[in-house]
Amino acid sequence: MSGNRTLTIVKPDAFGAGKAGKIIAHLETAGFRVVAARVMQLSTAQAQEFYGVHRERPFFGSLVSFMTSGSCMPLVLERADAVAELRTVIGATDPAEAAAGTVRKLYAESKERNAIHASDSDENASRESRFFFAESEIL
Ligand code: CMP
Repeated sequence: MSGNRTLTIVKPDAFGAGKAGKIIAHLETAGFRVVAARVMQLSTAQAQEFYGVHRERPFFGSLVSFMTSGSCMPLVLERADAVAELRTVIGATDPAEAAAGTVRKLYAESKERNAIHASDSDENASRESRFFFAESEIL
């Protein structure tokens, strides 16, 4: 995994509302290429592990409930400077603070139900991509 790849998840709020296609089109228009994708429903254990860094935060239980509440769509994306570019394209965690035209401004409901996840470093992009995909599933 190079600095040209990152991991995103179309979260259950956006996937359940039928917004996955529009979000992926938005990302492709921003220059990202999909190199891995799947539709799945996270188990509680998977959500707890994926968001383990937030285990002590007051919103952890609610976040795990939300992320296991329905189908989601993890994807590995490729473009130059992928981690930083994706975080710019999706906008701030809280859609109320997200810049106009960002994915979260357009599609998110709240700070928790915020439509999309993006890795915050190359190291986490690599770790999070391996969490969802075998090497052979990333093209
Ligand atoms: P994400 O980028 O996936 O990383 C951690 C997630 O926790 C975040 O998006 C939100 O869904 C959620 N989150 C972060 N901060 C809060 C908060 N203060 N209250 C509720 N949920 C939060």
